[in-house]
Amino acid sequence: MKGILISIIFFVFALSNYLIVNNQEQKEPLAKLWNIENDEIPKYLNIEKNLSNVDEILKPLLDDDNFGGTYIDVLQNTIFINTLNFTKAEQVKNLTQISQYINLLNFSSALNSTARLNYGFQEIKTFAKFYVPTSLTVYIDAKVNNIVIALCDEDRNETQTASFINRAEIYNPNFNYYICDKADNNTSSLNNIKLESREIYEEILAGDGLNYRLSNNKPKICSAGFWAQIATFSYIATAGHCYVKGAYYLSPWNSTRFSKIIIGQMLTHYLNIMDFGLVFINYKNVTPVPSIRNTDSIQYQELPIEDHIVVSSNGAHLCISAFQSHVKCGYVKALSGFTDALNGDGLFENIFIVSINSLGGDSGAPVFSYKQDLLHTSLNGIVSSGYDYDINGDINNAITEVMPIDFIIRVTGIKVVTAN
Ligand SMILES: *[C@@H]1O[C@H](CO)[C@@H](O)[C@H](O)[C@H]1NC(C)=O
Ligand SMILES: *[C@@H]1O[C@H](CO)[C@@H](O)[C@H](O)[C@H]1NC(C)=O
Ligand SMILES: *[C@@H]1O[C@H](CO)[C@@H](O)[C@H](O)[C@H]1NC(C)=O
Ligand SMILES: *[C@@H]1O[C@H](CO)[C@@H](O)[C@H](O)[C@H]1NC(C)=O
Ligand SMILES: *[C@@H]1O[C@H](CO)[C@@H](O)[C@H](O)[C@H]1NC(C)=O
Ligand SMILES: *[C@@H]1O[C@H](CO)[C@@H](O)[C@H](O)[C@H]1NC(C)=O
Ligand SMILES: *[C@@H]1O[C@H](CO)[C@@H](O)[C@H](O)[C@H]1NC(C)=O
Ligand SMILES: *[C@@H]1O[C@H](CO)[C@@H](O)[C@H](O)[C@H]1NC(C)=O
Ligand SMILES: *[C@@H]1O[C@H](CO)[C@@H](O)[C@H](O)[C@H]1NC(C)=O
Repeated sequence: MKGILISIIFFVFALSNYLIVNNQEQKEPLAKLWNIENDEIPKYLNIEKNLSNVDEILKPLLDDDNFGGTYIDVLQNTIFINTLNFTKAEQVKNLTQISQYINLLNFSSALNSTARLNYGFQEIKTFAKFYVPTSLTVYIDAKVNNIVIALCDEDRNETQTASFINRAEIYNPNFNYYICDKADNNTSSLNNIKLESREIYEEILAGDGLNYRLSNNKPKICSAGFWAQIATFSYIATAGHCYVKGAYYLSPWNSTRFSKIIIGQMLTHYLNIMDFGLVFINYKNVTPVPSIRNTDSIQYQELPIEDHIVVSSNGAHLCISAFQSHVKCGYVKALSGFTDALNGDGLFENIFIVSINSLGGDSGAPVFSYKQDLLHTSLNGIVSSGYDYDINGDINNAITEVMPIDFIIRVTGIKVVTAN
């Protein structure tokens, strides 16, 4: 009797401890990003939606010479407009489409017009195609009001890269140098212990891990992007640079062993115009689910993907769900940009940039946004690559390069399977 009582008391004690710990830890990644409570998320998503709508109305009214780009700030409930000519700004405020929203607008003084930025961007792209520097990403950062060139510090003295930097400097862009640890230390930590070979039937969600082996048998990991279909055939979309001839296996979050849950092979992949591949679901033991994994959360473990959309405003939130990072969120830094293609020549000219620090193993992961609340999401693209620590050891300048979903669909003709 005593024993039972003690264990019940212990249980109650343990449970209450558990609840306390989890109440503190249960902040959703989006609430962390905005530094708000979970129950405030719908309110702030609504503010963001409103700002994005007004931003869409506003942008066509801003000419390229008197203005230099816009970005939204949800926490300040403001659209910032880089302004070179305040006489012109007064005229824009006076337009009937805009006059009702002027309390949301902040015309701030800026030095670079859109025309100037676009011109420099095109010139720098020409230099990049000519010199083919080792590794770079270029985009126009609206908040910084300048062109940003991200480069690996260890490559800056390499001949082609140095020549490129020399030419690009004419336009005075911001150079961000990063520490690019090319050794992918985490993936090699997966060991080869065999799991018991019973039949396993598993669901695969966007954000799960994909195990595979290089030709030297070394285990590697990428992330499952989303469930795609061509005709009636089902595929798991991921990054093209995860391509091997052999099979892919489903690796659940937190797993430290090479999985035995076979999915199939990557039948199609791209490395020249975009970083994208399709793993054919060739075995019946995995069932794709049109939802995003969020299983570190108790309340919102699966986030249904309801549609796919084009990212429209700088400063809007975006999140990833990935094997290594799990779910984390950041902001849209640039709606377009280019990066070096992974086959060694050419460029990926259709990317966008997010301020997320993605990790080794996250490649191919879905990039998504929440709609009105935590239970409705839209797919925006998949993770290609990223830069994390800059040369000052700062992780806050981390960026992730994303392959946009509309471009992927245009090139491949795939259908994104959604939850409705
Ligand atoms: C945005 O919010 C304002 C109130 O701040 C409201 O009057 C307006 O209708 C909203 N606009 C859009 C496009 O949602
Ligand atoms: C600023 O805008 C006004 C109104 O469009 C225009 O008349 C003026 O020439 C512009 N100023 C400059 C310096 O471009
Ligand atoms: C704003 O519009 C009003 C009426 O249409 C006009 O009288 C006024 O001059 C305009 N102001 C500016 C700064 O364009
Ligand atoms: C516009 O934003 C700047 C920078 O945040 C701020 O200093 C300024 O007060 C804002 N202006 C208005 C009218 O809100
Ligand atoms: C690049 O060259 C400069 C000047 O020669 C040198 O100071 C710097 O350490 C070099 N950087 C790297 C990453 O090799
Ligand atoms: C942006 O403005 C700064 C300051 O005037 C200038 O140095 C830089 O060259 C401009 N950027 C471009 C791409 O023209
Ligand atoms: C990754 O591994 C290499 C070789 O073992 C090592 O030099 C490097 O410091 C490691 N990087 C990190 C981030 O642990
Ligand atoms: C998986 O790892 C994360 C930390 O990366 C942890 O928060 C979570 O509780 C782990 N889940 C399980 C089921 O062990
Ligand atoms: C490796 O994994 C650890 C733990 O999950 C993480 O903290 C670290 O950032 C990862 N490093 C890289 C280079 O992915």
